[in-house]
Amino acid sequence: MRTREKLLDFFEKNKGAYFSGEELAARLSVSRTAVWKAVNSLRKDGYEIDAVPNKGYCLSADTDILSSQGVEKYLEPVCASIEMEILPAVGSTNDYLREKALKGQKEGFTVLAGEQTGGRGRTGRSFYSPADTGIYMSLLLRPENCSPAVAVKFTTMAAVAACRAIEKVSQKKAQIKWVNDVYIEDKKVCGILTEGAVSLEKGSLEYVILGVGINVYPPRGGFPRELEETAGAVFQEKKSDGKNRLAAGFLNAFMELYRGKTEQDHAREYRDRSLVLGKDIQVLLPEGSRKAKAVDIDQDCRLEVEYEDGSREKLAAGEIRILI
Ligand code: BTN
Repeated sequence: MRTREKLLDFFEKNKGAYFSGEELAARLSVSRTAVWKAVNSLRKDGYEIDAVPNKGYCLSADTDILSSQGVEKYLEPVCASIEMEILPAVGSTNDYLREKALKGQKEGFTVLAGEQTGGRGRTGRSFYSPADTGIYMSLLLRPENCSPAVAVKFTTMAAVAACRAIEKVSQKKAQIKWVNDVYIEDKKVCGILTEGAVSLEKGSLEYVILGVGINVYPPRGGFPRELEETAGAVFQEKKSDGKNRLAAGFLNAFMELYRGKTEQDHAREYRDRSLVLGKDIQVLLPEGSRKAKAVDIDQDCRLEVEYEDGSREKLAAGEIRILI
């Protein structure tokens, strides 16, 4: 590990505490000059490192910069298979990870970016991914003998995991708009895009890429006009380690659901967190939209709707709009 990475690891675990250059050099087994250079390099990347004579250096407790050292300190043992790569900016973390998947990257590989220049949403839409205010992450899964028909469960597990993480870190109630959007009150704060590849030989999933975008803070200058009404952020003010805690919180919660044998519980929680049940909706179909009532969510997280003519249908995937 480079001195800069070692120092960041140390600082992240000891945020808000002062250490002399001499002590840091001894702890990291490097020279004091190397410590000084690493401090400057971290400062260039936006880390607030205080330097006080006779006290030493200290990483400000308020810092909130996404880093593997910052995320790792909150990861639980269930995330042992997670290996992270952090990129300052990328086109789309899903596209980046697909390249890695095609080269044989292992399950658990996770890429996180501070910004996406070509972030993608569902149904060909873009996902607004400005620098420094969000988390854009993709997690590689290689489920064994998994039929493509059940792939939607990874999306619904991710939605539950995102809600758990958001609630734990922000103490705000998080709800799910079927099938993959997470809301705080009436604003979307998180979207999920699950993609994958099927082995034609085996008829099962080769890999799954779980892409999650969380609006952690309002973007500088606000959301673009077309998102102003619908988009929101988890926090309004800077929160110490907000991004690192949310990213780790998501991974902890998702891996617990993924590794666990609690699928029934996941579906129940998904239903309990639904913000659409009982509401009038529009089911958006390629041939046009159809008015309906959202009646129930079943064990497979399918949305049961009742159309105006009284007929009912269970939707396994698709898109709806809530009517006010
Ligand atoms: C949606 O709301 O329609 C889904 C949005 C998914 C966004 C995430 S951000 C990380 C990953 N990379 C992407 O390009 N998209 C997903």
